[in-house]
Parts: sequence; C-alpha cells; structure tokens
Amino acid sequence: MLTELEELRTKALAELSRIDNLSELEKWRVRYLGRKGALTSVLRGLGSLPIEDRRSAGATANDIKALLEAELQRKEQGLREKELVAVLEQTRIDVSLPGYPVPLGRLHPTTRTLREICDIFVSMGFQIVEGPEVEWDYYNFEALNIPKDHPARDMWATFWLDTESGDRSRLLRTHTSPMQIRLMETVRPPIRALMPGRVYRYEATDATHESMFYQVEGLAVDQGITMSDLKGTLFEFARRLFGEGRKARFRCDYFPFVEPGVEMAIDCFICQGAGCRLCGNTGWIEILGAGMVHPEVLRRVNYDPDIYTGFAFGMGVERIPMLRYGIDDIRLFYGNDLRFLKQF
Ligand code: DAH
Repeated sequence: MLTELEELRTKALAELSRIDNLSELEKWRVRYLGRKGALTSVLRGLGSLPIEDRRSAGATANDIKALLEAELQRKEQGLREKELVAVLEQTRIDVSLPGYPVPLGRLHPTTRTLREICDIFVSMGFQIVEGPEVEWDYYNFEALNIPKDHPARDMWATFWLDTESGDRSRLLRTHTSPMQIRLMETVRPPIRALMPGRVYRYEATDATHESMFYQVEGLAVDQGITMSDLKGTLFEFARRLFGEGRKARFRCDYFPFVEPGVEMAIDCFICQGAGCRLCGNTGWIEILGAGMVHPEVLRRVNYDPDIYTGFAFGMGVERIPMLRYGIDDIRLFYGNDLRFLKQF
C-alpha cells in the first residue's frame, strides 16, 4: 500500500509539472483528487487493511492529498498569472503611436462676410430678420412700387414659378427688398432691421454674374428719419468693414422703391483713390444701393408718410470678399472646389 501511494505521488507530480494550461489542470485534478480519482479510491481501500497498517497508510495518504492540493493551487495560480500576462501582451496599446488626424472645418467666405456685416449692424441696434426665397410677385415687385408691365422690372431678370392657373404670381425673389414689406406689414415703427438671404436671377452666368447669390437688405423707419441718418449709418458701416480712413461718395441712382435713390461708393482701398485695376481707374468702388423709402411704399403697409420716414439699402455679399481678396470669378463661391474654399 505504501509503495502504491509513493508511486501515485511521483506520477501525479510528474504529470503536474508538464501541464501548461488550465483545462489540462482541471483534468488532472479530477484524475487524482476528484471523487472518483486515484487518491480517493486508495483512501477508500484503507478499510480493508489490517488495523496496524491502516494508521500509517492513512497518514501517508492524507499527507499526499494535502501535498497534491497545495501543488494544485500553486500551479493554478502560476497558470492564471501567465494567462493574464498573455492577454495584456495581446491587447497592449502603444501610447507612442500618432493619433488619427481630426480634419478641421472652416466657414465659407460668404458666411464669414455675412456674419461680419450682421455684427456691425447689430452693434448699431439693428435686428436680423429672415424670410422666404419663394416669393409672391406682390412682395418682390408690386408693393415695392414696381407695377406689372413697368419697364423697371427689366432691372431684375426673374425666375418665374409654374402655377396652376399659369399666371406669373410666384417667383424666386430677385432681391431681399420684399422683406421690407413683409416686416412693415407685421410691426409698427420704430424699425431698424437687417435682412440677409439668397436671391436669384435668370441670367447667363459669367465671372461677375451668378444665378444665385446673397444680398443684405437694411431698413430703418421712424419719425424724423432723414437722408443724413442714411449717410451716417452707411458711412460708419463702410469704415468698420473696409477700414477707418475710408471716404464715401453718394450719387443719385434710381430704384422704384426709394426717393431719392442713391448709390454709395468708397474710395479704393488698394490705390487709395489714385486709380487701379480693382476700381477700374476711377478711384471709387460701388458697394450698395440705398435711398429714402418711397411714400408709396409706406402707404402700401398703412404707414402715414406724413408721420413716418425711413431709409433702405441693399447690397451684394459676394462682392465684398471678391474685392478684399482679389477673387475675379463669382462662380468660384458655389462651385464647391475645396482648393478654393480651403484658402479662407
Ligand atoms: N434691391 C436692389 C437690387 O437688388 C438693391 C437696393 C437698392 C435695395 C436700393 C434697397 C435700396 O433697399 O434702397 O438691386
């Protein structure tokens, strides 16, 4: 019995030393220490021994059992540690690797210019108002003192929309001026508003013409507003946008919805008025149209022109970055060529 136990111990320990994974270890445990394992069956056989052998055999068997259990535990701990190390090796993160580059977006030059213009007027107490691009003939023309069949309509090449009755009543707004009427219909003076947005022209495109572009409309209506308010406001705006020392020039112009109507120019910021390519050798750059709101327009929205007066102005937005950065083709703005857009 004792030799049998010795052999069992030697064999079990030899096998244990060769095991290198947890599932093999579990099999080994079942084989030697399990309920039907080798050592258990030896212990069960103790009963059949003569009493004098039973004690020493029993003690030896218990020693071996304790030894094997201790070895099992040591082995298991070792294997678990090895397993952990292997997992850590496999999932190791190299913190010195460079990260993925995060592409940085940028604002479109039109958006930047619009924000700049809006900020200037907001600081002067103007509110920002927006409205529809699909417009009625009434707002785009009629209420702005441009009746049907009036030759002034030729100033705006119009995209007409199909209507059920086939009449020309709906269009893509050709300017932001209809927002003057929409606003005056809904509020009473005093008004100081800036109305930016897209406008559309039915025209062949070239370097200076696009079928869609942006405008900003301005309107101020109150008691006692005069031409000097118009000049002061727009002069201040021009200096904030184009630089302190700018000069401004106002000349007569015609727009059906203002009287008198003017066109404002600033002295060329490239040649300082001496004459160059940018200003076409005139020394002046036209930047907007403006005027005193026509009494007829005020009457349309039930404002009494004997009590209220106002000024209005409108300007193209793309023209400003074109002048500033020397962009010579307006089609670049909405051509979506990243090589162009990335420069801003
Ligand atoms: N709406 C005009 C255009 O598109 C620009 C304009 C001129 C607007 C004079 C005004 C103004 O408000 O007073 O050409």
